[in-house]
Amino acid sequence: MISKSMAVSLNEQLNREFHSAYIYLGMSAYASKNGFNGCARWFNIQYQEEISHAMKLFKYLEDQDAQIVLDDIKAPKLKSNSIIEIFEAALAHERKMSGWLNELSDEAMKIKDHATYNLLQWYVTEQVEEEASFGEIIDQMKIVGGNGYGLYAIDKELGNRVFVDSTQDAAN
Ligand code: FEO
Repeated sequence: MISKSMAVSLNEQLNREFHSAYIYLGMSAYASKNGFNGCARWFNIQYQEEISHAMKLFKYLEDQDAQIVLDDIKAPKLKSNSIIEIFEAALAHERKMSGWLNELSDEAMKIKDHATYNLLQWYVTEQVEEEASFGEIIDQMKIVGGNGYGLYAIDKELGNRVFVDSTQDAAN
């Protein structure tokens, strides 16, 4: 059983993971509407990933017999005007998520909650991969600039993404 305050913090993160899913679903809709069907698929898979991140926390809270609080999920706000700006907003969002996960790790370490700390290290590692993959896509888009064929090729490549539930790896 984890402390009440740790459970409150993990519930906040649970909500952030669902909110992330919602943000990527919005980005998927934007991409689809603007003819980037590969990006739409890529973001849809990112949406699924975020749901799996949320459910990993959900299961942990259940296993720890903690109170699960399903809060309102804020509507995503898309202010971007181009596909590269969408990916840049996504990267900025992931950096914010990394910051929160680091704070949660600090909190677990401070109260010597080893089980929660251990769980959070999975998320911290996952964040490194997520930031890297968003960064790579942005770099590729910068290289092609406004070149339509270049963007078309990137979009086609991103459309090959398949969902792999990383929360179900043998090591987890
Ligand atoms: Fe689950 Fe992309 O943070």
